[in-house]
Amino acid sequence: MAAHVSVGHGVPAAMLVLLFLSCAGGSAAAGGLKQRLEVRKHLERLNKPAVKTIQSPDGDIIDCVHVSHQPAFDHPLLKNHTLQLRPSFHPEGLYDDDKTASSRKGGKSPISQMWHLNGRCPEDTVPIRRTKKEDVLRASSVKRFGRKRHRTIPRPESVDLDIVDQSGHEHAIAYVEGDKYYGAKATMNVWQPRIQQSSEFSLSQLWILGGSFGQDLNSIEAGWLVSPDLYGDNNTRLFTYWTSDAYQATGCYNLLCSGFIQVSSDIAMGATIYPISGYGGSQYDISILVWKDPKEGNWWMQFGNGYVLGYWPSFLFSYLADSASMVEWGGEVVNSEPDGEHTSTQMGSGHFPEEGFGRSSYFRNIQVVDGSNNLRNPKGIGAFTEQSNCYDVQNGHSGDWGSFFYYGGPGKNPNCQ
Ligand SMILES: *[C@@H]1O[C@H](CO)[C@@H](O)[C@H](O)[C@H]1NC(C)=O
Ligand SMILES: *[C@@H]1O[C@H](CO)[C@@H](O)[C@H](O)[C@H]1NC(C)=O
Repeated sequence: MAAHVSVGHGVPAAMLVLLFLSCAGGSAAAGGLKQRLEVRKHLERLNKPAVKTIQSPDGDIIDCVHVSHQPAFDHPLLKNHTLQLRPSFHPEGLYDDDKTASSRKGGKSPISQMWHLNGRCPEDTVPIRRTKKEDVLRASSVKRFGRKRHRTIPRPESVDLDIVDQSGHEHAIAYVEGDKYYGAKATMNVWQPRIQQSSEFSLSQLWILGGSFGQDLNSIEAGWLVSPDLYGDNNTRLFTYWTSDAYQATGCYNLLCSGFIQVSSDIAMGATIYPISGYGGSQYDISILVWKDPKEGNWWMQFGNGYVLGYWPSFLFSYLADSASMVEWGGEVVNSEPDGEHTSTQMGSGHFPEEGFGRSSYFRNIQVVDGSNNLRNPKGIGAFTEQSNCYDVQNGHSGDWGSFFYYGGPGKNPNCQ
């Protein structure tokens, strides 16, 4: 009893009642209680005190947290870290393709996230999507919350069916390898793919990879995803991910562990992107740039035409502390084979590349950052997909769009069972 009372220090009365009940109620109840306390402690770690709170129309709560109180600074190695408010350098050539980009849409449109409809965060704060109890409870365990479950990196050079068989993750991507890369950029249109099973997801992103595909793989990832398990809905959300050990002990989505340091007061990670593209209708795309600051060595991320989101400190990584050895762009879905057949979870727009602009999903103006901090068209782009009858990819090149590709598909169909 004494031990339980001390655990309950500072716990609300209702919780204390539960504590005492569990003593009488046997080990099953105690297990439930242990989980509840674990969830509560995890939420306290993630949800920092807010300067201002904004209720988003999609049900999210956005907390404006002082920039120096964000989860990153719980990291032991960040205790004495001097916050970088901006990168020392942007890559050269960054704004070269902007004229074509904005003229296509008839002017520069400001990036909108749904919560902006109800307010903005003050200066010196960062918007953080509040994690709710239900969010954590949907995960298989508190430890797994906010983290990828399997090795999910597409590995084009060894088209072994392992990738399909072991984890059920399928991809349709373009990639470059064999050089040293210091960043990557792309503009991708945004869709809301249909998800068959809540445990599945569909995402479109870029991967910046360091190391071989062993246990120490380093990865920085950013893009959009639909993940009912992670978010409790089918909304299309902005996300980032990082790991320095092939998804084992390090890394997470967004700010769900300490690592990424956010500086933007405009953009919330994990927030709903709005508006999204319609089949045969208006097309909306987002631009993502991730690059290594040549002075400080940190990996920065920029969203849209100049929203610098923040950075991953160099020391989080081993290989990526130097440079990346591979860059990938494209889509990924989980195929859990519900009913013993291929999932009908869509990738991208849910339509094949042949359908082209307005119907298929695309990445355009894909670029890499070279050793001289210049944005360049990637050389020797490869394309990869495990089952092109389910999800496919088609590379192209044009004046306006530079290197681009269409990708995606419906999953289950007469040629993909
Ligand atoms: C942080 O700085 C303090 C005082 O300068 C020092 O005692 C401490 O060891 C430092 N901690 C880390 C993790 O570097
Ligand atoms: C998400 O979409 C699926 C259909 O694809 C639907 O069955 C499910 O109810 C939706 N979930 C939510 C939370 O809206």
